[in-house]
Amino acid sequence: MKVVIGSDHAGFELKEHVKDYLKQKQIDVVDVGTNSLESVDYPIYGKKVGEAVVNDNYDFGIVVCGTGIGISIAANKVKGVRAALVYNEDTGRLAKEHNNANVIALGGRTTKPEEADAIIDSYLNAQFEQRHQKRIDLLNK
Ligand code: RB5
Repeated sequence: MKVVIGSDHAGFELKEHVKDYLKQKQIDVVDVGTNSLESVDYPIYGKKVGEAVVNDNYDFGIVVCGTGIGISIAANKVKGVRAALVYNEDTGRLAKEHNNANVIALGGRTTKPEEADAIIDSYLNAQFEQRHQKRIDLLNK
């Protein structure tokens, strides 16, 4: 499995934690930045991750900003991206089961590292439910 991850400064520390967590699980992670706590603009990193998911060979993407809101909006501007803000285990699971999200968004200022691990696990362990495909097709249109 191969994942692309990106954040702004407010998501930087959680991004670093999530990278380590995924690597422990033998998941390959490509980091598109940012690489420090210096202030940057989340739309740049949401776009980078979104474009990578749509154009390159990734299983999914993870974006992190302060709340996960801005960077999920940014990722969703890329055609073909279904970015979901996930903030507990239920939303992690449902983002896959109902929305087949190909990007998940976390908030570095709103989600603790151990909560992020559990959210990621619930997303990874879930399966898309085919009965929702009609809605995905409508999103694509
Ligand atoms: C940056 O201060 C903050 O606005 C950003 O990380 C994010 O929370 C926006 O949605």
